[in-house]
Amino acid sequence: MKIAMVGSGYVGLVSGACFADFGHEVVCIDKDESKIALLHKGIMPIYEPGLDALVENNVKAGRLSFTTSLADGIKGASAIFIAVGTPSRRGDGHADLTYVYAVAREVGESLANDAVIVTKSTVPVGTGDEVERIIAESGTPHRFAVVSNPEFLREGAAIGDFKRPDRIVIGAEDEFGRGIMREVYRPLFLNESPILFTSRRSSELIKYAANAFLATKITFINEMADLCEKVGADVQDVSRGIGMDGRIGSKFLHAGPGYGGSCFPKDTLALLKTAEDYDSPTRIVEAVVKVNDSRKRAMGRRVVDALGGPDAARGKKAALLGLTFKPNTDDMRDSPSIAIALTLKDAGVDVTAYDPEGMDLAAPLMPDVVMADDPYSAIEGADAVVIVTEWDAFRALDLERVKELAKAPVMVDLRNIYSPQDMRAAGFTYVSVGRS
Ligand code: UGA
Repeated sequence: MKIAMVGSGYVGLVSGACFADFGHEVVCIDKDESKIALLHKGIMPIYEPGLDALVENNVKAGRLSFTTSLADGIKGASAIFIAVGTPSRRGDGHADLTYVYAVAREVGESLANDAVIVTKSTVPVGTGDEVERIIAESGTPHRFAVVSNPEFLREGAAIGDFKRPDRIVIGAEDEFGRGIMREVYRPLFLNESPILFTSRRSSELIKYAANAFLATKITFINEMADLCEKVGADVQDVSRGIGMDGRIGSKFLHAGPGYGGSCFPKDTLALLKTAEDYDSPTRIVEAVVKVNDSRKRAMGRRVVDALGGPDAARGKKAALLGLTFKPNTDDMRDSPSIAIALTLKDAGVDVTAYDPEGMDLAAPLMPDVVMADDPYSAIEGADAVVIVTEWDAFRALDLERVKELAKAPVMVDLRNIYSPQDMRAAGFTYVSVGRS
C-alpha cells in the first residue's frame, strides 16, 4: 500500500519510517525545503535513537522517499496522513490548527484517487469534521474518508512505541475508512497489537484524555513527594506501594521536577480550552497545570536553599547536569531546566550546564548559562551539582572526582538517581525529591 505522510517532523518522520519498515511504500512530504534536503542526504532533522538507521535502510530498500511537493507525494496513496504541528495558539492556549487546515485544503485540491485522510496530529474534538468539510468543499470527484488516528509515541522511545504499541486507536465514521486503516496497520495486527475502533470524536478526545491523565499521575506523585518530605516518608516506596495495585499501575509515578516537553504542557492547555468552550470544566486538569507550573520554579528555589538560602546563594555557582525535558532527546520545549535556570539567575547564582544532546537548543533559551564540554567541566568550581535530567551519563558519575572538582560536595538530585545513603557515605550533602 502507498502511504503519504504530510509533515516530516517528529511524528511524521518516525511514523513514516516505521510504516516503510513494515513494507509499505511511504512518501514523507514537507514544505520545508531545507528539511527535505537534509533527509535526502541521510541527515535527521531531529534526534531520536535508531531513526537514522531506520530511515537509511528503508530509503535503500526503495520504500521510503521524501518530497516537498504535496501533489506529487499523495498521488496513488490510499492513506494520506496529516502529521503537521498543532502548537499552542498564542494568547488562549487553543491548539493552532492553521497548518492542519491548510494541508486539508491542499489535499482536497490535489487528490488524484480515492483515499483516506488520517489526522495524526493532536487535534481538538471536532477537527476531523472540519477537515472533512474543507476537503468536500474542494469538489473532489474522488471518494474519501477522514479518520482520526492519534499517536502515543514518547520521544526517545518512539520507534519501540510505534512498533509495539499498547493499542492503536482509530476513529472512523464509515467502513471505507476502517477498511483502509486495517490494511495500514495489518503488520501490527499480526503482532497482536490491540486495535480500538471508535467514533472520530472519541478518538480525538482519547489522545487528550490520555496525556492529561498521565500528566495528572505525575503531578499527583510530585505532590505526594512534597508530603513525603514533610512527614518523613520515601516517595519511591510510596510509588512502588501504590503502583503494585493493578488498578493504579506503576508507570508515570516517578517524582521529579515537573513534566515538560512538547506534549503534556500543550495538550493539557488545549483540553482546558475545549472544556471551557463546551462549558464542561475539568477542574482536576486545571489544578494539574497550575501545580506543575509552580513546581518548576520551586525546584530552582530548592537549589537556592541547598546553596544556603537567598543571601548566601548570591554569587555562588550551580552546575546543571541535563537540560532537555527528559533523556534521549534534544527537545527543550517547556523543560523544567528553563524555569530552574531563570530562578537561579534571579537569585544571583552563576550557572554552568552540560547536556549530551540539548545544549544547542538550550543556549538561546538561557543566555546567561555557560555551556560546558562535559559534566566534569561543568562541575568545576561549583557550589552545588544539580541533576535536572536523568541521562544515563549522569547515573554513575565518579563521585571522588566530583568532590575534587566542586567547591563544595553538595548535590541536588531532582530525579532521584542516587541513593541518599550512598551519597551521604560518599561525603555529600545530598538533597533529592520526596525522600527525607
Ligand atoms: C508523551 C506521552 O508519554 C506519549 O504517549 C505521547 O504520545 C506524547 O506525549 C505526545 O503526545 O506526543 P513525551 O512528551 O515524549 O510523551 O514524554 P514522556 O516520556 O511522557 O515524558 C513527559 C514528561 O513527564 C517529561 O518531562 C518526564 O520527565 C516527565 N515524567 C514522566 C515524570 O516526571 N515522571 C514520570 O514518571 C514520567
